Amino acid sequence: MLQNEYVTWSEFDPHAGAFRTLQNERSAVMARRLGLGPAERAPACLACHSEVVPAAARGARFQQDDGIGCEACHGPASGWLATHDDGTPATHEQSLRAGLRALNEPAERGALCIGCHVGSGDRLANHTMLAAGHPRLSFELDTFSELWRTSGGREHYRRSAEDNARRAEEGATQVWLTGLAVASLASVDQLQAGVGGAALPEFSAFNCYSCHRSMGRPDGDRSEPLPNAVVSGGPPGALRLNDSALRLLVTALRVQYSGEATALAEQVAALQRAANEDRGAVPEAAAALRKQLVSLVPLLAQSPIRAADRQAMLAAILKASGSGAYPDYATAEQAAMAAVVLLGDTGTSPRQAADIAALFAVLDDDTAFDQQRFARLLGRLTGKGEPRK
Ligand code: HEC
Ligand code: HEC
Ligand code: HEC
Ligand code: HEC
Repeated sequence: MLQNEYVTWSEFDPHAGAFRTLQNERSAVMARRLGLGPAERAPACLACHSEVVPAAARGARFQQDDGIGCEACHGPASGWLATHDDGTPATHEQSLRAGLRALNEPAERGALCIGCHVGSGDRLANHTMLAAGHPRLSFELDTFSELWRTSGGREHYRRSAEDNARRAEEGATQVWLTGLAVASLASVDQLQAGVGGAALPEFSAFNCYSCHRSMGRPDGDRSEPLPNAVVSGGPPGALRLNDSALRLLVTALRVQYSGEATALAEQVAALQRAANEDRGAVPEAAAALRKQLVSLVPLLAQSPIRAADRQAMLAAILKASGSGAYPDYATAEQAAMAAVVLLGDTGTSPRQAADIAALFAVLDDDTAFDQQRFARLLGRLTGKGEPRK
């Protein structure tokens, strides 16, 4: 324990300021456009920008304006706070039974972070909010965990030498893969919740760049049609669900679990078809995909990963990108974060650092995304792309 977690959180953690954000000008403008009244009192905003605790369960020191505090992530602490660090400490297992969350487990941590960073149940950054000015949500569990752990240049917690070694071997890859499955689950749930009875489905459950892009083709070339199956899994112009994490998951699974990869790809295609052609068929297609993802989470969280597997996953991502399987900005963003996770320690040479910076520079402007340029730069990272000038 560093024993400085409170200071680190209050001074350097973006979550400490999440409530204050609701009091800033950008939130005021959004709230006005949405006719919400003050954002800081709107349940739709508080759901993700503060800790939501029913009145009856609030202790004397609970303050909504604390933002997202220790207990929002580590779990309600009344059962374990006094015993987890005092003279006769409870074991970690006893604390877990008393409500401490096992955030070292990728699936548990993924469910926590993704609950807000993708959405869940009544926590939804819906299309109306996005169009009113909310930033688009984008998330990758390993990348964001590291960004957060070191935010403001201060470590929230320090990893042991043993944890660092495990991370270099398989840990980061497992966190990435598990996060993809958990994020995909959240997207499927949102699609299902958003199909409802309204004339139009809830747009935020779909891939933003399925609608928001120029009428030029995503590969910049209008003469040769891209295979439709690559772009949407459906006929030209079909709406794509938010499949960016799913596309990466399918690519990665092909390396170790080709049967599961094929099944998953078929279930995604079935859901895409249902969402476009037969809304009545969505619940069944979503349930089948959901079941498959639920069974993948523990498999991926435990799966042994060798250096050769990481290489093969990186090569598969490169190949998929080259053949147009990541046609839009949201999926390219996932592919870029995945590549950095998979490069691991080897991504720290100055040459590769420059290539990584160039790759992310292509992602600076989501409205000017160039798929072919992205694929070429991605290839350079693995030594198979365009030569450096
Ligand atoms: C209760 C909802 C909630 C949970 C749980 C949550 N976050 Fe966040 N997170 C937010 C909000 C809201 C912000 C934006 C804060 C602001 O700027 O006001 C944020 C900001 C961040 C940022 C900074 C993003 C940026 O662009 O600067 C990172 C990184 C991050 N979160 C990672 C995580 C990780 C990793 C977890 C899980 C361990 C997690 N978050 C759990 C709601 C949440
Ligand atoms: C599903 C969870 C969720 C809901 C609901 C939500 N937010 Fe957010 N909000 C986030 C997350 C996560 C971020 C950080 C995004 C990032 O940087 O990756 C964020 C970022 C923001 C930012 C930008 C913060 C910055 O530092 O630039 C503003 C402003 C904001 N939210 C306001 C609102 C308002 C106002 C509402 C209600 C109308 C709302 N949010 C509802 C999750 C949510
Ligand atoms: C955004 C979510 C989030 C918030 C807010 C947060 N933590 Fe954490 N914390 C984590 C995660 C994730 C870990 C890493 C758990 C792991 O891998 O074992 C962690 C690790 C820790 C550890 C190290 C545990 C260990 O076994 O080494 C301590 C101590 C800790 N947090 C205390 C706090 C305190 C105190 C606060 C409030 C001031 C707080 N945390 C706020 C998510 C959070
Ligand atoms: C089914 C198509 C569709 C999808 C998917 C979609 N949008 Fe939109 N979006 C629209 C339409 C239609 C408008 C209204 C345009 C207008 O007013 O002229 C809009 C407007 C917006 C606006 C307001 C600015 C503007 O261009 O008018 C933002 C910001 C926005 N959407 C963000 C998003 C984000 C972020 C996502 C993904 C989470 C998303 N949209 C997904 C169709 C879509």
